[in-house]
Amino acid sequence: MLAAGPRNLRCDKDAARNWPDNVERAACGITERITEDMSDRLKAEREAATARRNLLTQDAIERTGITEDMIGELVTRFYGRVREDALLGPVFARVQNWDEHLAKLMDFWSSVVLMSGRYQGSPMRAHMPLSLVGDHFDRWLDLFEQTAREVCPPAAAALFIDKARRIADSFEMASATLAGRIAAPRHVLRP
Ligand code: HEM
Repeated sequence: MLAAGPRNLRCDKDAARNWPDNVERAACGITERITEDMSDRLKAEREAATARRNLLTQDAIERTGITEDMIGELVTRFYGRVREDALLGPVFARVQNWDEHLAKLMDFWSSVVLMSGRYQGSPMRAHMPLSLVGDHFDRWLDLFEQTAREVCPPAAAALFIDKARRIADSFEMASATLAGRIAAPRHVLRP
C-alpha cells in the first residue's frame, strides 16, 4: 500500500515491494509526478507572493515618500533619544547589542509601513515581561512622534505615528490585562 497522505507524498518502496512490477512502477511514477507538480506550484505561488509584496512596497513608497534610508534615520535618531531618557533609558538597559536591536527595528518598521516582510518576530511577547505602564507609553510616543515629525515629510510622519499609536495601545492594553487591569486605547485618537 502507498503511504501517500498529504504529509507524506512520496513513493513508499517498502510497502510496494510485494506489488506486481507494473503496478509498483505506475504507482511510484504517479506519486513522484504529484510531488513534482506540488513543488512547482508552491514555487510559483511563492514567486507570485513576492511579486505582489514588491508591488505593495513600491505603491507604499510612491504614496508616502517613505524610503529605507528614512526609516534608518528615524530609528537611529529615536533610539538615541530613548537611551538618554530618564524614564525609558533604564528599561532599555537590557538590550545587549544595539547594532542588532537597531537593525531589527529597521526591519520592523520596513515591514509595518512598506510591507517588506523583513521582520519575523513577536513584539507583543518581547514587551509583556517589561511591566510597562501608561507613563512609559506616553513618553515613548512623545519621543517617537517628535522624531518622526523632524525626519519625515508630513504624510510619512502621519503614517508612522498612526501605526505607532495603534501598536502602543495594543501593548498597553495587553500589559494591563496581564496585571489584572482593564485599559482602553488612549493614544490612537489623540490629536
Ligand atoms: C512603553 C514603550 C516601550 C518600551 C519601554 C519598549 C521597550 C523595549 C525593549 C526593552 C525591547 C527589547 C526587548 C528585549 O530584547 O528583551 C523592545 C523591543 C522591541 N520593541 Fe519596544 N518598547 C516600547 C514600545 C514599543 C512600541 C510602541 C513598538 C512598536 C511600535 C515597539 C517595538 C519593538 C520591537 C519591534 C521590538 C523587538 C522585538 C523582538 O525582539 O522581535 N516597542 N522594546
